[in-house]
Amino acid sequence: MTKLTIVAFDGTRHDLDVQDGSTVMENAVRNSIPGIEAECGGACACATCHVYVDEAWTEAVGAPEPMEEDMLDFAADVQPNSRLSCQIKMGPDFDGLVVRVPERQG
Ligand code: FES
Repeated sequence: MTKLTIVAFDGTRHDLDVQDGSTVMENAVRNSIPGIEAECGGACACATCHVYVDEAWTEAVGAPEPMEEDMLDFAADVQPNSRLSCQIKMGPDFDGLVVRVPERQG
């Protein structure tokens, strides 16, 4: 089990124990965290699973792949630490990861 914290837009922290290999988006949906719509179900084709990676984790999580970067063009309020949460796969290297949900999707 790996720890993942998703901070909703209203500041509510959701501290989760998640399965390695699951994505941040899957865990957000599974735990009904508001603000992650994930309309395409994780196919990197909708940009409604946009999150901000906590500054302490941006280097470890890394930059988006080109396909994800193209989809991020459709997200609202994109910042340098923006990622699509369906493209972040949890594992031991990301134990303690913190992401924040933006005010709105798309
Ligand atoms: Fe659609 Fe992530 S769920 S791009």
